[in-house]
Amino acid sequence: MIAPSILSADFTRLGDEIRAVEAAGADMIHVDVMDGHFVPNLTVGPMIVEAVQRATRLPQDVHLMIENPEASIPEYIKAGAHWVSVHAEACPHLQRTLNLIRDLGAQSGVAINPATPLESIHPVLEDCDLVVIMTVPPGFGGQPFISQALNKVRELALLVQKRKLSLEIEVDGGVKIDNIKEVAEAGTTIFVSGSGIFKTKNYAATIQEMKKRLSF
Ligand code: DX5
Ligand code: ZN
Repeated sequence: MIAPSILSADFTRLGDEIRAVEAAGADMIHVDVMDGHFVPNLTVGPMIVEAVQRATRLPQDVHLMIENPEASIPEYIKAGAHWVSVHAEACPHLQRTLNLIRDLGAQSGVAINPATPLESIHPVLEDCDLVVIMTVPPGFGGQPFISQALNKVRELALLVQKRKLSLEIEVDGGVKIDNIKEVAEAGTTIFVSGSGIFKTKNYAATIQEMKKRLSF
């Protein structure tokens, strides 16, 4: 599944940008929420999630790069988030946080930074519907892809088979036409791409080419 990140969209025309990627074949919309504490950048909140909800029928994949996410998870789900991911590094009671997301009717996700080992989330894999492997340090769009992080995708894909887990493996950061095949071969099922889509001229041609490279 292809999940364009609106971080690189033109915010003066957000509704049009979302409708354009939907028409171009996107499968979900990735919304990057940053609080200026967990990451140095500050972006959007539940009001934008609610607005995105009115612009598209696609599910929203809300990536919370914030401290103390428990306090605002209910608001994001009420605003229309289908998938909610929290950072393992920001959650001292990760299991409780993931279960809160599920209890409120959304799909629970856990994201890990490039420097965080996969082992740190082994104990909560049964509690999540989605694992987000960051291939850039979170905070900004358009950063270079860190390919070493794909080793975690490979490890996780094996674990999913071995433990018969039912979860999606998402890669977020620096995914573009040029590297999407390598990302897919590692075992990724959801591909987030911000600048790789929104900074190209023809969204339909870009997403089509990405999907072509996925069918190997
Ligand atoms: C990084 C965000 C990513 C980012 C991806 O902090 O979580 O979702 O928008 O953007 P690109 O694809 O440009 O790296
Ligand atoms: Zn993201």
